[in-house]
Amino acid sequence: METIEVTLPNQAYEIVIKTGLRETLGVHLQKRWTPRKLMVMTDENVAPYYLEETVANLRAAGFTVTTAIVPAGESAKVLTMVEKITTHMLQEGFTRDDAMLALGGGVVTDLVGVIASLYMRGIAFVQVPTSFLAQVDASIGGKNAVNLGTVKNVLGTFYQPEEVLIDPSYLTSLSDRELIQGYAEVVKMSALAGGEFFEQTGKITGVADIREQAEALILASVRYKRDLVEADPLDQSQRHVLNFGHTFGHAIELLSEGALGHGEAVSVGMVAISDRLERDGYTAAGTTDQLVNRLVLVGLPVFSELIGHEDLLSTMQADKKRTATTIELVGLAQMGAPILLQKSVAKLPSFIEGG
Ligand code: GLY
Repeated sequence: METIEVTLPNQAYEIVIKTGLRETLGVHLQKRWTPRKLMVMTDENVAPYYLEETVANLRAAGFTVTTAIVPAGESAKVLTMVEKITTHMLQEGFTRDDAMLALGGGVVTDLVGVIASLYMRGIAFVQVPTSFLAQVDASIGGKNAVNLGTVKNVLGTFYQPEEVLIDPSYLTSLSDRELIQGYAEVVKMSALAGGEFFEQTGKITGVADIREQAEALILASVRYKRDLVEADPLDQSQRHVLNFGHTFGHAIELLSEGALGHGEAVSVGMVAISDRLERDGYTAAGTTDQLVNRLVLVGLPVFSELIGHEDLLSTMQADKKRTATTIELVGLAQMGAPILLQKSVAKLPSFIEGG
């Protein structure tokens, strides 16, 4: 078992990584909470595998459990879902002394974060991420949001969980394709971190290696992200480096209309920006190839026709991270040395086209 402390100005909490933790979830939470109502939220994909065992486990530990199952995928990350779940909680008599538990991937952990921060101005919650993407990234950091129309994560809050409980054994029910969505974020963080972490991803030569070394990869990712979150809890400066690959990535993910998963889009996005900045001399020669090697070995795409899509620019411009006149791009001077570039929106078309 590994316990990683997150220390923030007004709160400290732990991220626990332990294979088999799900079997003792109730007992674990008994140490944190007296018996109370718990809203366990999950999605349609995760529910058939893990909802029953989770509920039984929590009830055996004395908790009064209510469940909510949302549709799988981004369509659940909307305000109407927040209203629906909170209405249910109100009907069930949830008060500020009760709590929520997110059992699922990034959509579920985000949605529960938003709801927990809003319900009665804030109730306690824990994250139990079940996808690799959520275990290495989405459940950590306290940024929670829902989408508005086609703009991702535009309505949200900063609100930290009381604990993040990560059990790598949830990954056994994940397909290879789902697993590599999370691995793209691991490669991203290892490239930003450089050093030992980058060497660690260099030893992954296929999906089987990811499964075998999942716990160590989760640990390295969580430690890296924790350091950034502690340094910049409100995502105002250093933490922006985590957007590496995401400006192009978010845009092509949207334009692909579901064909590309988040990690696949980020994989293409990292290579696109790195290649562009390498050609402009910002990035050391050979850096992009090192990234590409790691990504292709596990079957992640490194190019998409969507990079040339006529709506790429307008989709990127709709990104919430831009100011009125500039858009922030994240690249690497070299492995372990991220750079942030402010590009004027007016110059973006020629930048994208390589002019
Ligand atoms: N919830 C993801 C983050 O805070 O970065």
